[in-house]
Amino acid sequence: MAYLEWKPAFDTGVPGIDYEHHRLVDMLNEIHELILHDGERRKVAGILAEFHTLAAAHFALEEKIMRDHGYKGLAARRDIHHRLLDQVREMMEAHEQGAFRSGMHLPETVRQWLAEAMDIDVKLFADITDSGLGKSGLSRG
Ligand SMILES: [Fe+2]
Repeated sequence: MAYLEWKPAFDTGVPGIDYEHHRLVDMLNEIHELILHDGERRKVAGILAEFHTLAAAHFALEEKIMRDHGYKGLAARRDIHHRLLDQVREMMEAHEQGAFRSGMHLPETVRQWLAEAMDIDVKLFADITDSGLGKSGLSRG
């Protein structure tokens, strides 16, 4: 079973955002599978680093969009982003030190925070006008 199952309710209707959300979910599932089945260590490290890079860029874009639109929940949202990125960094360090062994699971909090962030995105992007999206280089469909 996947670590984080994609659900249609995660779709924001903004392809640029949905594509990145899919990539983030796919990468977490891949990391999960690799750790569970004793995958190649270098591969796990590579995907963890890739996940961190994409997540950081993705969150920075969303925070900019939220700022541009005077989104009230920005501070709380940024907090979720930071905690998620911190946790990924901790996972990278734990992995480097060999603390991730075969059969282990990824922390539950990573799944919760990413799912929570994507749920909030659905509401956020529903409130943003097409011209507002255009200013950030995004569009609907
Ligand atoms: Fe997002």
